[in-house]
Amino acid sequence: MTESPSTPNPPLILLTGATGYVGGRLKRLLEESGHRLRCMARRPENLSDRIGQQTDVVFGDVLDRDSLDAPMQGVHTAYYLIHSMGVGDDFESDDRKAAMNFAHAAKQAGVKRIIYLGGLGADDDDLSLHLRSRHEVGKVLQQSGAQVIEFRASIIIGSGSLSFDLVRSLVRKLPVMVWPKWVSTEASPIAIRDVLAYLTEVLEHPIGDNKVYEIGGPETVSYGGIMEEYARQRGLRRLKIRVPFLSPRISSLWLGLVTPVYARIGRKLVEGLANPTVVTNEAAIEDFTVRPCDVKQAIARAIEKEDQEMVETRWSDALSSSGRVTRWGGVTFGSRVVDSRTETVHLAAEQAFEPIARIGGSTGWYYGNWLWMVRGFMDQLVGGVGLRRGRRHPTDLRVGEAVDFWRVEHLEPGRRLRLFAEMKLPGRAWLDFEVTEKQPGQSVIRQTAEFDPIGIMGLAYWYAVWPLHQFVFSGMLRNIARAAERLASKNHA
Ligand SMILES: NC(=O)c1ccc[n+]([C@@H]2O[C@H](COP(=O)([O-])OP(=O)(O)OC[C@H]3O[C@@H](n4cnc5c(N)ncnc54)[C@H](OP(=O)(O)O)[C@@H]3O)[C@@H](O)[C@H]2O)c1
Repeated sequence: MTESPSTPNPPLILLTGATGYVGGRLKRLLEESGHRLRCMARRPENLSDRIGQQTDVVFGDVLDRDSLDAPMQGVHTAYYLIHSMGVGDDFESDDRKAAMNFAHAAKQAGVKRIIYLGGLGADDDDLSLHLRSRHEVGKVLQQSGAQVIEFRASIIIGSGSLSFDLVRSLVRKLPVMVWPKWVSTEASPIAIRDVLAYLTEVLEHPIGDNKVYEIGGPETVSYGGIMEEYARQRGLRRLKIRVPFLSPRISSLWLGLVTPVYARIGRKLVEGLANPTVVTNEAAIEDFTVRPCDVKQAIARAIEKEDQEMVETRWSDALSSSGRVTRWGGVTFGSRVVDSRTETVHLAAEQAFEPIARIGGSTGWYYGNWLWMVRGFMDQLVGGVGLRRGRRHPTDLRVGEAVDFWRVEHLEPGRRLRLFAEMKLPGRAWLDFEVTEKQPGQSVIRQTAEFDPIGIMGLAYWYAVWPLHQFVFSGMLRNIARAAERLASKNHA
């Protein structure tokens, strides 16, 4: 039986790891294609505002065997998209125990199929603990008696993927890339979109024997090759220093200094970099219609997706729920630095938005106009567009048109304006205005300056202009609020 959502009583699918990178994306796809879905999470409340109406969310912790019976009830197919790398040093035994618990509960509930995403790497190699553990999980899951389909992937390229983020921060943070021997270890990187295509297409296959599919892009690339391609697409010039003696273990200590966020998980991943993770058989290509894209396309898509996600980010939600602490330079979101502030006005959202829709051109920038003129002049001196473009119409705005040295990237009248900077900068910058009506006649205007720096020069620029930004942007926001009140009382009179 295949798991077609169009059958009268579609089989129930259990998704684990839905709060994670791969599981979160798979959840959206399964929901969109109408599958009957149950998500299992350690903190179901983290999923409650991210699920479709038909999706069920239940508590379950794979390290707590008793918690798994309820989630498994009536399940036909279960996705296992879990690892314990972030928890402690004994992740290997945690992952073994977790898989045993899961297999046992699946057996008792009569689950027909388990789909697991693990890691590539030849079993006869001197495999790293991480990869060995990923393979072991696949074997342990077979104790369930259900058909186990194990996909083995190398680095997954996509915005938000842990291993790709790691490569990305190594390239972005420093103008010099330390180039130890292991960067020439070969891999078969795969785009997240192609991983998801395999994970969903498998539902159309009839239940049969256990299978292990190696999945990857069409070419074999070294980790260094991935870093170089990323640097090329982001326009980053990087000096390489070859160091023949640096083992993955020592590199991971260095990595901890460069990318502290990933230090703990990163160390386990880097230790695995000594092992080639290359596709060695064609079974996935023979049994599936998926044709993975190459690394160049995969990176281009990841960069594009990151931009799109930022457009979709509601700063009002992201900044208030993240609990991030403001410090010199603002707060960081992935590779971006963000400086945000709010002002409350006793007006409806449409009224509060009115001066925002008039920004630039003959209206000016509401504060320190002479500073904006100096900035425009400096931009022209270095070959930029400066302020001379003005704007097409004093009150009407459209997506795609110029406003001085900005371009309208996103517009929701009465609610949101996002401008992309076209001045010469060591990075990419946006200025975002978002209006939220908190209660009838009371709105909050959020102004957010966002910067995606290119290397150390970009960061130096951002930190250098930060004090000036405090002065100019807070003045601008204050005056926007006043202008909104003035316009409202003028319209009322
Ligand atoms: N990302 C890659 O580049 C890559 C490459 C190859 C293979 N893979 C494989 O793909 C799978 C998913 O990886 P990912 O990148 O999506 O990982 P991820 O973003 O780190 O997500 C891991 C998920 O596991 C859940 N989890 C951890 N411990 C749990 C427990 N005790 N009980 C229930 N849930 C638990 C986490 O839930 P909480 O929110 O509760 O922590 C989270 O949803 C893994 O098997 C990984 O080996 C990933």
